[in-house]
Amino acid sequence: MPHRIAVIPGDGIGTDVAAAALEVVQAALPGGLEPVTFDWSCARYLETGAMMPGDGIATLRGFDAILLGAVGWPATVPDAVSLHGLLLPIRKAFRQYANIRPHRLLPGVEGPLRKAGFDILCIRENTEGEYSGAGGRVHQGTQDEVAVETAIFTRAGVERILRFAFAQARGRSGRLASVTKSNAQRYSMVFWDEMTDRVAADFPDVAVTRYHVDAIAARMVMAPESLDVVVASNLFGDILTDLGAAIQGGLGYAASANINPERDAPSMFEPVHGSAPDIAGQGIANPIAAIWSGAMMLGHLGEGAAAARVMAAVEQVTARGIGTVPGRDSTAAITAAIRGAL
Ligand code: IPM
Ligand code: MN
Repeated sequence: MPHRIAVIPGDGIGTDVAAAALEVVQAALPGGLEPVTFDWSCARYLETGAMMPGDGIATLRGFDAILLGAVGWPATVPDAVSLHGLLLPIRKAFRQYANIRPHRLLPGVEGPLRKAGFDILCIRENTEGEYSGAGGRVHQGTQDEVAVETAIFTRAGVERILRFAFAQARGRSGRLASVTKSNAQRYSMVFWDEMTDRVAADFPDVAVTRYHVDAIAARMVMAPESLDVVVASNLFGDILTDLGAAIQGGLGYAASANINPERDAPSMFEPVHGSAPDIAGQGIANPIAAIWSGAMMLGHLGEGAAAARVMAAVEQVTARGIGTVPGRDSTAAITAAIRGAL
């Protein structure tokens, strides 16, 4: 039976890179995917007043995975509206609590550090923490205005992301970096440290090191090769993975998977980058981050061989210097080269 894939191209360059990713994953697994495309986007919001239909989540639930391009078109719809109307509800409704983001240099890509040999896997908590959405504003628009945004760390939420990260570390080098800011945030982050110690007892083969988020940010630049699996809260993981994207050559190479580890709902695969209004419609968006995300989707669907074929093709193409200089090669040319290499 083919895997049923919900494709949400979204906005801006999302439409270009989602099409490229779909083309490549289908070529890697002929007849193995059954895609259905949804036009959920800011354009749809302008027409109908909603980013997705009221039964959007129920519709997506019937799929095996979701492939997403990018969400956001701030010129017409405020980001806080578009993201809370599409991307974030999907992550939360489907308990995609593990956001996995690999950071390594593809062959032929020269990152700004001029240094190779790092291979970092960031595991970002994806459904609670600083982005829980709990808060409010009072006395709006007056001198007495107050805004409160509460970070929520639940025992269940922290424990499950740590267990997931420890398991990933066990499957790689056995080294895990746990990121907090427990010197300044003495409730949530001290709690995170305590949970790290508790979970560590079940993974005696994993060596865990605690870092404060500011220190690990510096380390990702100065000594990225010293890191392997990194686990962090929603906000810290968000920031560190843009830094990870930067050291791997840019957002055009940064892939991500929003995983529901229990597999009781679909997981979602998307590049880390946004809709890039500045280059949208020019046909020059780098599709590699989306294609790499597509490879992660194939892996999640149990199609490890097809996933490996996609990554081998991507690496062969970048090693030839295609897709390695921002804005030089067209989306179509990079995609065609990767298809050719397949
Ligand atoms: C990301 C993005 C989103 C996030 C935004 C657009 C809400 O920055 O996937 O990293 O922070 O989760
Ligand atoms: Mn981000």
